[in-house]
Amino acid sequence: QKGGYPSFMAKEIHEQAGAVADTLLGRLSDGSLQLDEMDIDPSVLRSVDKIVVVACGTAANAGEVAKYAIEHWCRIPTEVELAHEFRYRDPVVTEKTLVVAISQSGETMDTLMAVRHAREQGAKVVAICNTRGSTIPRESDAALYLHVGPEIAVASTKAYLGQIAACYLLGLFLAQVRGNLYPDEIAALMADLEQIPDQIQQVLDNSGQIEQLAADMQDANSVLFLGRHVGYPTAMEGALKLKEIAYIHAEGFAAGELKHGPIALVEEGQPVFVIVPSPHGRHSLHSKVVSNIQEVRARGARTLVIAEEGDDAVLPYADEVIRVPATRTLFAALLTVIPLQIFSCELATAKGLDVDQPRNLAKSVTVE
Ligand code: F6R
Repeated sequence: QKGGYPSFMAKEIHEQAGAVADTLLGRLSDGSLQLDEMDIDPSVLRSVDKIVVVACGTAANAGEVAKYAIEHWCRIPTEVELAHEFRYRDPVVTEKTLVVAISQSGETMDTLMAVRHAREQGAKVVAICNTRGSTIPRESDAALYLHVGPEIAVASTKAYLGQIAACYLLGLFLAQVRGNLYPDEIAALMADLEQIPDQIQQVLDNSGQIEQLAADMQDANSVLFLGRHVGYPTAMEGALKLKEIAYIHAEGFAAGELKHGPIALVEEGQPVFVIVPSPHGRHSLHSKVVSNIQEVRARGARTLVIAEEGDDAVLPYADEVIRVPATRTLFAALLTVIPLQIFSCELATAKGLDVDQPRNLAKSVTVE
């Protein structure tokens, strides 16, 4: 059942190239993006003036990645809110709001209550889900399925990648419907996205280094994760995985926030993962993150740096460099999280913990 892997989580991590390929499969026809399940009238999609993504846990981290993509491509103000907070704070929702509910199981009660609340206010709801026929897509106006296959391990991995890929599809679809991107721009983005499954496989094929690192770090009692742009939700997700399955205190930060407080945590030997954006991106994002590595290293941190192949600017400040293939800044979210997933899985396995059934957690949280 586990296909020779020690846990379902390890198996599902190693299925991710195929999982993302399946999420993307058959979406492009005659140069245009087809999302058959998106049966919301295009005129309604054109009138949307705000997007609110509601989700919990890992799905909310996928939503944070979606925000960067959707705002960049569609120029629609997008916010991401934990579903349980959204529901109970009287949020501003109108008929022009598009609510995107992300849920692997489709049964998370917090997310379902947010969906019901949004629809009562007249908003349209698109569900991004893995489980066909589950409650959240049934109660939504439209559903986009991940097609990543059943996820057994409590800690979400392949569904996270599927959720991000599905959010990219949704963003590109909205940009197509609303005319924010030209068809050839969408085709170029899709072509790069379609390279991602092979690139995921390359990351998986190179997992020896991160496995060794995890085996050596079993005694860590705190690990920090830093990133900017989509590296920020990646840092949050890396920290969440480590907490939930390895029971190690971990925190993810936006790297720019360091100097506003968290850098006080850094002392000699503190392990800090840093997710570095592509040096070929358009902004000065890359050099800012390199400076952040320098800042924590100067205070004694052990820097574990996830960087694009050929990015040598990180070398002087990195105790360890984990390489990922080059892609667009936005799409890197589908690659840089993988070493972090493997790190948690291997570390928890090395500690002899029940990786698939962490204490106090359930796969689907059907209570509020
Ligand atoms: C973390 C994890 C949880 C879920 C969250 C939402 O690995 O699995 O944080 O992501 O409970 O679950 P779904 O996506 O089923 O709504």
